[in-house]
Amino acid sequence: MSAVATERKRAKGSQRRPLTPNEIAPGVYVGNWQDAVSQRYGGVNPSDRRGPSMKRRSLGRQGPRVSAIGLGCMGMSQSYGVPDDAESMATLERAFELGVNFFDTADAYGPFTNEELLGRFLRGRRDDIVVATKCGFVPTSPGHPNAIDGSPEHIRAACEASLRRLGVRTIDLYYLHRIDPRVPIEESVRAMAELVRDGKVRHLGLSEVSPRTLRRAHAIHPITAVQSEYSLWTRGPEEGILPVCRELGIGFVPYSPLGRGALAGTVRSLEGLPEHDFRRNVSRFGPGNLERNLGLVDRLGDVARARGVTTAQLALAWVLARGEDIVPIPGTKRRTYLEENVAATEIELSPGDRARIEEAVPKGSAVGERTTPWGKALLDE
Ligand SMILES: NC(=O)c1ccc[n+]([C@@H]2O[C@H](COP(=O)([O-])OP(=O)(O)OC[C@H]3O[C@@H](n4cnc5c(N)ncnc54)[C@H](OP(=O)(O)O)[C@@H]3O)[C@@H](O)[C@H]2O)c1
Repeated sequence: MSAVATERKRAKGSQRRPLTPNEIAPGVYVGNWQDAVSQRYGGVNPSDRRGPSMKRRSLGRQGPRVSAIGLGCMGMSQSYGVPDDAESMATLERAFELGVNFFDTADAYGPFTNEELLGRFLRGRRDDIVVATKCGFVPTSPGHPNAIDGSPEHIRAACEASLRRLGVRTIDLYYLHRIDPRVPIEESVRAMAELVRDGKVRHLGLSEVSPRTLRRAHAIHPITAVQSEYSLWTRGPEEGILPVCRELGIGFVPYSPLGRGALAGTVRSLEGLPEHDFRRNVSRFGPGNLERNLGLVDRLGDVARARGVTTAQLALAWVLARGEDIVPIPGTKRRTYLEENVAATEIELSPGDRARIEEAVPKGSAVGERTTPWGKALLDE
């Protein structure tokens, strides 16, 4: 048997290793999301329902069972305003209470401080949580775009550093954050498969990857999840990566499912955003484009009000309704938004609801690019 075949066989064996049971006590929706939402909508309470236990979904055919909605932690350390570690920690705790067990971070977030924050939260409850982190970006100086490195040497070193910051022995889901065009994907994935073999990682993922690259990667080692931007205003995955994930039994994790906050209806102008906010460099939020895009969001808000939920909840319910193999990871650093977002897992959309939502925000109707020029250059298209 060749060395590669042996490696694949061993890696496959460790993928089947059972995970510690992740059953979380049923959460009950108490607290203040109803109040917060009610205030925003002039007394309309979007839901009086108190929560059943959090719904679960499987991450791909072989992956772990996770809460139907995860928590994106990036904004707790960068991109959208000033970090507030105390509120972020309270948000992580609240998410766990509500049954969220899938937490998304990356070494590049902060950089590094986001993994450290999550590491503090993980203490004492490691076995009940599915931790996803990422490698492949190399932070440069603050405020400058990251460099990129998908080499085996970098992946190995980055994994060791992430394990240390998170304070864990194994990362549940390890993504390559972006494809390094200088390194064949086979080399990157082989290095990641070695991490599985060595027990440092349980499952592999790729982020913003093309169908062709995904197939090549999956041939080296089973890929458990693909993470890409996907929301009502970014629907590219429907024609590209999502059908391939389905064919190969790979889970799909939409990031920025709220369009970096725009689809929640609370970003009304660039002036309202902090000075170094990432969205200032994204043309969808730029002058002219933002006004047009807000027209779509307002129409979505009308549908949400008629349905008795918030705009953010409707946007998330729409993503959740796209398939049981989809686990969105909306990001927030505050409990009020978190509670609102988690409650979206309870919303059942009828075919009529879906039609009204897609009429309000037709496919391809958002104007401007979804990311920065530098971010666009890194997409594996
Ligand atoms: N793989 C990748 O390349 C990649 C790229 C980007 C993000 N991600 C991951 O995906 C996660 C989610 O994406 P994202 O954070 O970029 O975008 P997002 O989830 O679409 O939106 C986050 C923004 O929406 C706001 N928000 C959240 N819930 C809200 C609500 N109910 N009402 C009003 N506003 C609300 C947040 O505000 P506050 O910040 O004030 O709470 C934040 O500004 C990230 O945290 C990160 O883990 C991955």
